[in-house]
Amino acid sequence: MDALLATDGLMDPIAAVTHPDPYPHYARWRDGPALTWEARRCLWVVTRADAVQHLLATPALRVRPAAEPVPAALVGQPAGELFGLLIRMNDGPAHTTQRPAIQRTLAGLPLRQVRAQALALGRAQAGRSTLDNALFEWPVQAVAQALGFAAAELPHVAAWVREFAACLSPLAGTDELVNAHRAAETLMARMTRLVAESAPRDASLLQAVQAAAGAQSRHARPLIANLVGLLSQTCDATAGLVGNSLLAWVRHGAPAPADTPSAWIEEVARHDAPVQNTRRFVAEDTVLDGQLLRAGDAVLLVLAAAQRDPALNPAPDRFDPGRPGRRLLGFGHGPHACPGQALATTLAGAAVQALREHGLDRDRVACHAGRYRASVNARIPVWGL
Ligand code: HEM
Repeated sequence: MDALLATDGLMDPIAAVTHPDPYPHYARWRDGPALTWEARRCLWVVTRADAVQHLLATPALRVRPAAEPVPAALVGQPAGELFGLLIRMNDGPAHTTQRPAIQRTLAGLPLRQVRAQALALGRAQAGRSTLDNALFEWPVQAVAQALGFAAAELPHVAAWVREFAACLSPLAGTDELVNAHRAAETLMARMTRLVAESAPRDASLLQAVQAAAGAQSRHARPLIANLVGLLSQTCDATAGLVGNSLLAWVRHGAPAPADTPSAWIEEVARHDAPVQNTRRFVAEDTVLDGQLLRAGDAVLLVLAAAQRDPALNPAPDRFDPGRPGRRLLGFGHGPHACPGQALATTLAGAAVQALREHGLDRDRVACHAGRYRASVNARIPVWGL
């Protein structure tokens, strides 16, 4: 029997993240109960769109376990301090105080200008990075540039961000943790310096966040950490979106003249989600959908499966960039929904265009052998190119 399948024939939902084709398996999960206990992973699994939306909006479920707000492996170290300040990793005041400024700023970004700058950056970088690295480096460099980092610093910032982002995964080993602590310290120091500079570049993302945050919090460590958080949130997720867009180009063809680039990339994000799942933790005993969840239980919300729920998107397995009323859950839902969705699709579109302009052809993309980077939630193809 396939080692990824339990006796009930359902695929391990974590192994599914990096499986060449998890979608028929997700459909089987969706046909089952709204909440299923997955004994191999000791967590509840939720795959239906209505249940995912409901649970992501339920205050009884939190982004971190009450007993471990910061992963034990990070506590007392620089990466732990940074982790503990991120809105993504907090509920309550630490979330609600910082989120509005970030959300307002990202919602007001001039996306045409961001796209032009990201394209110019990709064109300038083309030929300097391998394909596998370009997926990570270009979007992060584009956000760092938008924040106001100088051109010479961009490759360094991208490397530190990738090192820090590695510690967000429970798969991080000892060496990765050591690098992540060093990178977190450096990123906090560089961001503090950028904030302290007397005149951050006009119309920079940094200036906009600072204005939205107000004078009081401008130099405060939580804001600095969440500026670093914009870079780390971009890193793996956007790498996955660029990579999965390249695979979609091979599988489904290039965008038709009628497809807007952003609609085409959004359909990739729906059809082959870069962030396949997210977790929540039960704060107190709660009955959900007739099922008792106990305080401390973990819940895996399979966003990639929920976006392919026919109740959310009709004919969900069809790749259809012109799909009317497309509904995404791959960027989350509820109070923690991703504020960077439009930015992410813009950056991914620019990266794909720059790669294709630089001569990346379909045959090279098509040599993808079904390999994905090891991860419990991100779907990032690896070419070895
Ligand atoms: C394809 C790329 C991206 C995907 C698929 C993605 C997906 C997500 C998801 C699923 C969440 C919610 C997690 C949860 O509730 O458990 C999230 C949160 C977040 N994302 Fe994104 N994201 C992407 C890119 C970006 C970018 C480019 C930025 C900003 C530069 C960003 C900033 C954030 C922030 C700040 C949060 C935390 C929001 C909160 O907790 O209130 N993301 N993202």
